[in-house]
Amino acid sequence: MKAWQVKEFGGLDAMSYTDVPKPEPAPGEVRVRVRASGMNFAETRMRSGTYSGQEIPFLLGMEMAGVVDALGADVTGLAVGDEVFGRARGAHAQFVCVEATHLFKKPRALSFEQAAAIPVGWLTAWHALRTVAAGKPGDRVLIEAVASSVGSAALQIAKHQGCWVAGTASRDDKLARAAEYGLDAAYNYKRENIAERMLADTDGHGADIGLMTIGEETATMLFDAMAMCGRIVMYGSTGGRQVCFSLNIGTRNIELHSMSISTSPRFMPETMRTFADEALPLFESGVLRPVLDVVLPIEELKRAHEMIDERTHFGKIVLTVDQ
Ligand SMILES: NC(=O)c1ccc[n+]([C@@H]2O[C@H](COP(=O)([O-])OP(=O)(O)OC[C@H]3O[C@@H](n4cnc5c(N)ncnc54)[C@H](OP(=O)(O)O)[C@@H]3O)[C@@H](O)[C@H]2O)c1
Repeated sequence: MKAWQVKEFGGLDAMSYTDVPKPEPAPGEVRVRVRASGMNFAETRMRSGTYSGQEIPFLLGMEMAGVVDALGADVTGLAVGDEVFGRARGAHAQFVCVEATHLFKKPRALSFEQAAAIPVGWLTAWHALRTVAAGKPGDRVLIEAVASSVGSAALQIAKHQGCWVAGTASRDDKLARAAEYGLDAAYNYKRENIAERMLADTDGHGADIGLMTIGEETATMLFDAMAMCGRIVMYGSTGGRQVCFSLNIGTRNIELHSMSISTSPRFMPETMRTFADEALPLFESGVLRPVLDVVLPIEELKRAHEMIDERTHFGKIVLTVDQ
């Protein structure tokens, strides 16, 4: 089969679409014939060698939608021919093997491209807002990088939770697109002080929940934007990891949570379960909508990496796979 592989860390040319053996499902796994695969910021770091724990060689890709093609031993609840989607390492390929418990049945209302736009971004946002921050109606939520794949999912989730939502971006055109999904207040953090805007827009209250994903570049503004007893959930550091902050956040009783959906002990039992029970029906009914920026053939993965670096996308870049 064909798959995108990295043998040595590096730039775009470190990736090659090459012939590799078709994988066989281990016990508990299924093999999926991939129809579409989502693109994530983390993959650019995996390719360049700055993603912690990434070893070489490896196959690129972190999520997909497709059709179950073979079952390993001890798999229950799935059959050959089922249309599924989920997180899967090595998913920029014609086939991928993945633990059956990591998959969801694809809502009938969604195309493979739409379903492939969900797993990493939406599960990260769901884990942050539903599991970690326990958002509730009326919360004031501040989402950093609201145009990102995770951020645009968080926007829809927070609005569905009944929250008032502010979001940040480095470009006004991305903020304008977020307004189409119900963003209540839009802050361009390159030329505005997020904290001043947030406090002004909430009558001095601040953010009950702050989703931190940029890190070093904007952390001070995010801390200053938080309300009494506000909860910060940190899941990314696109703008640098060395954050310096004053412990006077204690006088406002601010809670600082960090998270990874790959390692959180709450992810499988809580986030996967509540996402299946509560979010999937909302995708089926059209209340929640996967956000696709552009769909490219999988052969154009290098262009997708360039687009992530250009930072102009809104939502998810999706790759389609010909079989
Ligand atoms: N903890 C977890 O379990 C988990 C899971 C999935 C993703 N994540 C993290 O969530 C974040 C978003 O991922 P994603 O796939 O949604 O990203 P994405 O769609 O590629 O969007 C990333 C956005 O981050 C903003 N950004 C700010 N500073 C940046 C910089 N120096 N370089 C590049 N981008 C910068 C950019 O938006 P603006 O220019 O508008 O600011 C950019 O478009 C990443 O940090 C990722 O690692 C964490």
